[in-house]
Amino acid sequence: MTQTLLLLPGDGIGPEVAAAAVRVAQAVAPDLLIQTDLVGGSAYDAHGTPLSDDTLKRAKASDAVLLGAVGGPKWTDVPRDKRPEMGLLRLRKELDVFANLRPAFCFPALAEASSLKHEMVEGLDIMIVRELTGGVYFGEPRGIDTDENGVRRGYETSVYTAPEVERITRVAMDIARGRGGRLTSVDKSNVMESGLFWRQEVTAVHAKEGEGVALSHMLADACAMELVRKPKQFDVILADNLFGDILSDAAAMLTGSIGMLPSASIGAPGTPGLFEPVHGSAPDIAGQGFANPSAMILSLAMALRWSLGRVEAADKVRDAVARALDSGARTRDLGGSLSTEDMCNAILAGL
Ligand code: NAD
Ligand code: IPM
Ligand code: MN
Repeated sequence: MTQTLLLLPGDGIGPEVAAAAVRVAQAVAPDLLIQTDLVGGSAYDAHGTPLSDDTLKRAKASDAVLLGAVGGPKWTDVPRDKRPEMGLLRLRKELDVFANLRPAFCFPALAEASSLKHEMVEGLDIMIVRELTGGVYFGEPRGIDTDENGVRRGYETSVYTAPEVERITRVAMDIARGRGGRLTSVDKSNVMESGLFWRQEVTAVHAKEGEGVALSHMLADACAMELVRKPKQFDVILADNLFGDILSDAAAMLTGSIGMLPSASIGAPGTPGLFEPVHGSAPDIAGQGFANPSAMILSLAMALRWSLGRVEAADKVRDAVARALDSGARTRDLGGSLSTEDMCNAILAGL
């Protein structure tokens, strides 16, 4: 049966890196049916909404969704519920892709490109498991209004239910078992009720089902510090939606550039996963043709692995990126001068 990949290039550098990913997909999975649709600001411009019902329907009917990036200064004054980022959040929620896997992997050739000393990041291989459909991103009530004393205020609600923490803990434990067996759960249980609850639930699930996994806990601020102090101490990091967002950007820089970091968002077995680079639409460099396409191409590799069951093709893509880097191919974010297209050519040559 033909497999379908829904490509949502999005905004800014999204379409630039998406074009590169399509070339790689055509090379390693020529039978894959790639459909393209709008999301984010570009969807808002065309349809007045950052994610149309029609696009959502196509996403749910596809085997995997590959998304570039959304957002940009053009849409700053758009009503909040129509902002590009809301399209992405709705897509994650509707696909119920609650487990966001963000591998911070330092390709050997890039140990020198990190802002840390190379011996600190050489061989670095961390998996951040970020809860993606709950927490403060979605909790109610939220808003900007005026309290009973006439004082303006802005607020949201950080809330997790037991089933939400249980299912993400299970995913993180499964992933830890397939790697070094060490899981560090991150929270702010010293300050937040939802953080204390998170720690209690993770501990309880691990006590019942955690055979083969060594669990430890760390406060989120300390984890940020440890990530830049001694990153190789980590194997798998489990974090809620907000802390996972922040810590994965920090981890990205360990690998050389945020332009290197892919992600996979997974839900229940048999449902389409959502694959996207960790980086955004990079408005500062959009339209200039020198964005690093690696994170997007590695996100394609994750789609091949996690949703499309094409592990061999996924390995080929990852090896090709490594080979391109070994040969000295570098975009500007990595200290080189290659354009997006030339970096893609180097990766295709690596295939
Ligand atoms: P960003 O990730 O877009 O950019 C941060 C910095 O990294 C910029 O200097 C940018 O030029 C650089 N960068 C990012 N990707 C790169 C690549 N592939 N190659 C080379 N350099 C790269 O983050 P930001 O500037 O904070 O956000 C810009 C917009 O993107 C915002 O609207 C934000 O909401 C959105 N955003 C979207 C996603 C997503 O769609 N998944 C993720 C993060 C941010
Ligand atoms: C990410 C982004 C998104 C997030 C934004 C664009 C909604 O920063 O995927 O890391 O905060 O989850
Ligand atoms: Mn982010």
